[in-house]
Amino acid sequence: MKFSSMRLVVGSGPTREWLDPVRFLSNPSTGRMGHAIASAGLGRFREIVFISGPVGSGFQRVSGAVNFSVETTQEMRDRVVESLSNDTILVMAAAPADYAPVETRSTKIKKQQNVNLELTLKPTPDILLEVAQLKSRFTNLIRVGFAAETDNVIENALTKMQKKDLDFICANVVFKEETGFGDHPNSLLVLDRLGAEHTLGPAPKPELARSLLDYLEST
Ligand code: CTP
Repeated sequence: MKFSSMRLVVGSGPTREWLDPVRFLSNPSTGRMGHAIASAGLGRFREIVFISGPVGSGFQRVSGAVNFSVETTQEMRDRVVESLSNDTILVMAAAPADYAPVETRSTKIKKQQNVNLELTLKPTPDILLEVAQLKSRFTNLIRVGFAAETDNVIENALTKMQKKDLDFICANVVFKEETGFGDHPNSLLVLDRLGAEHTLGPAPKPELARSLLDYLEST
């Protein structure tokens, strides 16, 4: 792949789905990996678009990129779809919330002691799946996903790659307080369509991000 003539679009961070004005469903994604990938692309791509859910101020924007801040999975989906074009690599390092409350209350849900609270959730858009359905509109739209897996890493990542029709999937094993989320050295297992495995790291995320781009450029 010749990066200098391509665009890089990165989805990063978690999304939030609000239950009421003071509570949301989300996950502990810090946005570090997505931020590192977009930063590593500076100077290598024709343009970089960085689409981030709510994260710490150090990871919300990449200076030198076109930045968009989003909150919900639907908003991230809309920005990603608007950002697609020919000769583009989309890297979805984001952890979009997979479910949203069917109903968002306009006033705070009051606590009732000793009474269970039941929530009904509906699936949010699967962004990469939707992108797969749109891909025939574009030439040279390369799609890279991440797979956050706790077990059967390779098998689950391959299944995910096929389901979302990805060109590459980067699997990292997620154990709370170990790898995956947060600021710890990380290893990534990159799988291509044919199932060929390429291991990157262990290394801090900025270095892993550079290695990932080097690997993608070499393919
Ligand atoms: N992803 C997406 N849209 C969603 C959820 C996830 O595009 N609504 C993307 C992620 O950014 C990642 C890939 O899909 O690149 C896999 O995300 P992951 O959370 O591992 O998988 P899910 O599809 O959510 O499946 P599951 O939670 O069942 O493992």
